[in-house]
Amino acid sequence: MAFEPNEPQEKIKYDEMRIYSDEELNNYTEEELKNFKTKHDTPMCDDLESGPWPSFVADAKREALHRRKLADDRILLSAETVEDTLGQLEDSFVDGETHWKHGGIVGVFGYGGGVIGRYSDLQEKYPAVAHFHTLRVNQPMSKFYNTDFLRTICDLWEYRGSGMMNMHGSTGDIILLGTTTEQLEPIFYQMTHEMQQDLGGSGSNLRSPSCCLGRARCEWSCIDTQDMCYELTHYYQDELHRPAFPYKFKFKFDGCPNGCVASIARSDMSFIGTWKDDIRIDQDAVQAYIAGDIAPNGGAHAGKDWGKFDIQKEVINLCPTACMWMEDGKLMIDNKECTRCMHCINTMPQALRPGADTGVSILFGAKAPILEGAQMAVLTVPFMKCEPPYENIKDLVEKVWDWWMEEGKNRERLGELIQRWGLPKFLEVIGLPPMPQMVTEPRSNPYIFWKAEEVPGGFKRNIEDYRVKHMR
Ligand code: HEM
Ligand code: HEM
Ligand code: SF4
Ligand code: SF4
Repeated sequence: MAFEPNEPQEKIKYDEMRIYSDEELNNYTEEELKNFKTKHDTPMCDDLESGPWPSFVADAKREALHRRKLADDRILLSAETVEDTLGQLEDSFVDGETHWKHGGIVGVFGYGGGVIGRYSDLQEKYPAVAHFHTLRVNQPMSKFYNTDFLRTICDLWEYRGSGMMNMHGSTGDIILLGTTTEQLEPIFYQMTHEMQQDLGGSGSNLRSPSCCLGRARCEWSCIDTQDMCYELTHYYQDELHRPAFPYKFKFKFDGCPNGCVASIARSDMSFIGTWKDDIRIDQDAVQAYIAGDIAPNGGAHAGKDWGKFDIQKEVINLCPTACMWMEDGKLMIDNKECTRCMHCINTMPQALRPGADTGVSILFGAKAPILEGAQMAVLTVPFMKCEPPYENIKDLVEKVWDWWMEEGKNRERLGELIQRWGLPKFLEVIGLPPMPQMVTEPRSNPYIFWKAEEVPGGFKRNIEDYRVKHMR
C-alpha cells in the first residue's frame, strides 16, 4: 500500500529553491584541493586522512575550500568556520580535552528545545566557531530522501550555517552542525515556510521518534513502523517542542524482534512488531534450502566457507526453545513454544515468514547508565493490535505520561521511576494484570509486599488480643 501523508505535502523542487548556481557548487578543482592549505596547521587531524575509511578530515577540507571560494556575500557565517573547527579539534587532540564551554541555552520562539547551544572556550584563537550551535531537524521516517530535499537543505545550511552536518544524530534527527544565534530564527523560518520541515526534540521532552525501515523494504515488518512513527510524531508535537516532562522520553519502532532501530536499548517506550499465529512455511523453499539451491541467511555468510547448509545444525538445533523438527522431509514448528526470536526466519527468509496476525509488543524503561545503571526495556505489553489511528497506543502513552509526569523526580527517567516504585505499581498505572511473560524469572527473595485488603483481617492488630493467648 502506498504511503499517504495525512496532510497535503508540497513537493520541494530544488530548481525553485536553490541558492547556489552549478558553478558555485563546483567551484574548485581536485588540483586546488591537493594544494589547499587550511588556516591552521593540523598535523594530528591530517593523519586521519590516510587509510581506506572515508575521512571526516578530508571531507572537512573540501568544504573549507569550497567555502573559501564562494563570494563573501554568498554565505552568512565566516568562510573559515570549517577551518576553525579543525583548528580547535587539533588543539583538543593535543590537550586531550574539549574546548567547548559548558552548556548553552539558545532556541527559537515558541519552542523550548531543538537547538543545542555551544560556545568555544578559545574564541580569540578560533573566532569563526565562537558560536557553534547545533540544530536538530526532524528526519523523515526511516530516512528516505529525494535529492530535491537534500540539495535544498544543503543550500540553506551552506548559506546560514557551517555547511557541516551529521547524517544522522543517534536519535534520528538530521544534525545541522554549527551556526550563530542570529541565524537560528531565519533558518527556522525558511525550513518551516519553504520546506515544510520542523525541528526535532531536545531537553526534557519527547525526542524525535524514529523507526526501522519497516514495510517500505522489509518482508518481516509486522507493523507499519513508518506510519506509526509519523503519526505519533505528529500527534505529540506539543510534547516534542515544549518540554513538560521530568526528563527526556523517547519512542522507537522496530518492525520485528531483529531490532534494526535498537528500540529495546535506546527508547523509554519501545515498540517491537510481532505475531500471534503460526510462522508461515513454504515447504518447497525449505527443500530448496536443504538442496543448496538458496543460500542461507540471504547469503550473509558468503565471505567464508561454512560448508553445505545443514538445516538440523543451523536452524533446528539453534532454535532457543527447541520447537522445530523434521518429519517426513517437512519442517515442523510447534508454534505454541516458539518465542518469535526470528532465527529460523532470518536463516531461511524465502521459506519462512512471520505470521499474519500481527501487532506489537511494548517495552518500557530503556536508558543509558546515568544515574542508576543502564537498562534495556522490560516487556510490559506482550501484544497489542496496532492499526491507524493507534488510539489504543495513544491511550497507553498518556497513562504512562500522566503517572511519570506526576511522580517522576527531577531528571528521573521512566525506567528509574519503574525501579523506584516497582513493576506492580506500573502495571496498576497502565491497567494491566501481571503476567508471567513480564518476568524472566520469579523473585528469589521473600520480601513480598501485600496489600491490606489481600490479607484476611488486614494489618490492624491489637497487642492485647495477642497477649490473651501469648503470655509475656
Ligand atoms: C515449634 C517451635 C518453633 C517453630 C515452629 C519455629 C518456626 C520458625 C519459623 C517459621 C521461622 C521463620 C523462618 C524464616 O523466616 O525463613 C523462625 C525463625 C526463627 N526462629 Fe523459630 N521456631 C520455633 C522455635 C524457636 C525457638 C525455641 C527459638 C529460639 C530459642 C527460635 C528462634 C528463631 C530465630 C532466631 C529465627 C530467625 C528470625 C529471623 O531471621 O528473623 N525458634 N522460626
Ligand atoms: C554470640 C552468639 C551468637 C552469635 C554471634 C550469632 C550470630 C548469628 C548470625 C551472624 C546470624 C546470621 C544472621 C543473618 O543471616 O542475617 C545468626 C542467625 C541465627 N542465630 Fe545466631 N548467633 C549467636 C547465638 C545464637 C544462639 C544462642 C541461638 C539459639 C539458641 C542462635 C540462633 C540463631 C538462629 C535461629 C539464626 C537464624 C538462622 C537463619 O535465619 O537461617 N544464635 N546468628
Ligand atoms: S527491525 Fe525487523 S522489520 Fe524492521 S527492518 Fe529490521 S528486520 Fe525488518
Ligand atoms: S522463531 Fe525462533 S523460537 Fe520460533 S521456531 Fe524459529 S528459531 Fe524457534
